[in-house]
Amino acid sequence: MNVGIFIPIGNNGWLLSENAPQYKPSFELNKEITLAAERYGVDFVLSMIKLRGFGGKTEFWDHNLESFTLMAGLAAVTTKIKLFATAASLVMPPAIVARMASTIDSISNGRFGLNLVTGWQRPEYSQMGMWPGDQFFGTRYQYLSEYIQVLRELWGKGQSDFKGDHFQMDDCRLSPQPQADMKVICAGQSDAGMDFSAKYADYNFCFGKGVNTPKAFAPAAEKLIEATRKTGRHVTTYVLMMVIADETDEAARAKWEHYKAGADHEAIAWLGQQGAADTRSGADTNVRQMADPTSAVNINMGTLVGSYATVARLLDEMAEVPGTEGVLLTFDDFVQGVAAFGERIQPLMKSRVHVQSPVPSQAEAEQRLAA
Ligand SMILES: Cc1cc2nc3c(=O)[nH]c(=O)nc-3n(C[C@H](O)[C@H](O)[C@H](O)COP(=O)(O)O)c2cc1C
Repeated sequence: MNVGIFIPIGNNGWLLSENAPQYKPSFELNKEITLAAERYGVDFVLSMIKLRGFGGKTEFWDHNLESFTLMAGLAAVTTKIKLFATAASLVMPPAIVARMASTIDSISNGRFGLNLVTGWQRPEYSQMGMWPGDQFFGTRYQYLSEYIQVLRELWGKGQSDFKGDHFQMDDCRLSPQPQADMKVICAGQSDAGMDFSAKYADYNFCFGKGVNTPKAFAPAAEKLIEATRKTGRHVTTYVLMMVIADETDEAARAKWEHYKAGADHEAIAWLGQQGAADTRSGADTNVRQMADPTSAVNINMGTLVGSYATVARLLDEMAEVPGTEGVLLTFDDFVQGVAAFGERIQPLMKSRVHVQSPVPSQAEAEQRLAA
């Protein structure tokens, strides 16, 4: 199974809680996390694009860096790990994104790919006068379909005359073209989003579900398999999961309960309103799931809570779900979390035996974790 890290480009990562570690995003922090991930043989890092936060006492996601420029910086300081940036397709023309991707492909020597999003939160775009109106909820994947066709033409042959409803190219040029095949992620979960992934993307990312229910995302993986039957393309599922791990199950569980007790209700209420705004595109699973108040403290991301051994076992179980190629991890504390993953969890995973990361002794692991 492949492993990626969803690096904290926004403040406080993915925990809306006063009791969680409070930090602002910076290049230094993301560099430290990415370099550690690279040392441990993690396959890729991905950063999201988020243009408007949720407020509340924790100012959740009010502080966010920009994805492409962050990944360009990370490309320059890494050598092996793959890097994905997220393109806010509504406000970044495809010919510019194609060229930015070519540039990071050059900086990284072919280690770069893209996550394409339509946008689902109106204020991110209306704040800059660039929300096309709520009818966009119903047409956003048609828009993205045209967008990716322009990207693929420019990357593939360096030229596009694409004519659609949203984009009209006129002998548009791109050179240099990327040296590597440009991989595209989509995280659509609605029917339109999945159909888009099956037709155009290389990977579909979905939300894991529940606490310590590692296979609960299986219906989403199955839905993608169904969609790819129609297109005949090879597209695989990656699952987003938060890891909260410690020496024992009890210690990890205590951290999780502590985070939940400090939930930032104001920020969570804002998320609920945003999630409900899209009534047109059949957006059900991800966006509605994020806002479900039962465990909105980590936007209802699937969560693995337990000892290092428990988390390793649960991750291995995820790898058994048909169509699943990888997992995208977040942590309550990313610096400690990536070290714990590399030193304590990964060496126990059957699905990661191919990773050439020496298994440290208990004493070595403790030393490195404490450093
Ligand atoms: C791993 C992952 C990363 C995502 N990254 C972003 C992002 O950076 N920006 C964004 O606006 N939406 C992001 N989304 C939301 C998706 O693009 C998508 O809109 C959402 O999953 C709902 O699916 P739908 O668009 O088919 O309704 C992400 C979702 C997942 C699961």
